[in-house]
Amino acid sequence: MKKGAFIAFEGLDGSGKTTQFNAIMDKLSKLNITCKEEREPSDHNPIGLMIRDIVKGTHGIAVSPISLAKLFSVDRYEHVVNDIKPFIDNGGHVLIDRYIVSSFAYQGLSCSFDEIYFYNKDVIKLLMPDLTIFIDTAPAICLDRINKTRIEKELFDDKGIALQQKYYEAIDKLKHDANILTIDGNQPLDLITNEIWKAIEPYMCRYQQ
Ligand code: TYD
Repeated sequence: MKKGAFIAFEGLDGSGKTTQFNAIMDKLSKLNITCKEEREPSDHNPIGLMIRDIVKGTHGIAVSPISLAKLFSVDRYEHVVNDIKPFIDNGGHVLIDRYIVSSFAYQGLSCSFDEIYFYNKDVIKLLMPDLTIFIDTAPAICLDRINKTRIEKELFDDKGIALQQKYYEAIDKLKHDANILTIDGNQPLDLITNEIWKAIEPYMCRYQQ
């Protein structure tokens, strides 16, 4: 069966990840390459919506890190089974803003690598990215951008340096399973977009319908 490509974008909040994600989606659309756009936490199942409330602190009640790690993995499983995998198995491409490496980085602040791996084992069996783009931007730049663009604080806003370290550790362990490519996020935006495009293009062509 001809399968579509599955490509994940990763990075700290404020790293420019979503800007680059949108730039690549734009490029694909201009080239008439159809690609489904997804993000995590998911935004069309109840678990993802609940997680969004938790990280925003909407209810003012904290959730334990272990429960949060489990919620992220359950959201991911639902998302993969219901939306992503059927689409890819039908030959469609999917670009996703955050996937499993985010859990190893963010939940890695409180849980061990093995715990997170265990919570995600069903997803790992089902679907790993063909390519993961990690946009590595200095935490101070990320924090500055967050402060300029967002009024409300979120759960992980002030954890940039620790998160970057956790990303590095996760990348070291998962670089082959998730095929992770690190891109210097401190460069001018268009240079970053070009680098990402160079990496992604072969996957899009290889699987082109
Ligand atoms: P974010 O990418 O900011 O969502 P959006 O830009 O669509 O609003 O993700 C929300 C937060 O969730 C962000 O701080 C990272 C965190 N997160 C985790 O802690 N673990 C995960 O597995 C994922 C996917 C996200």
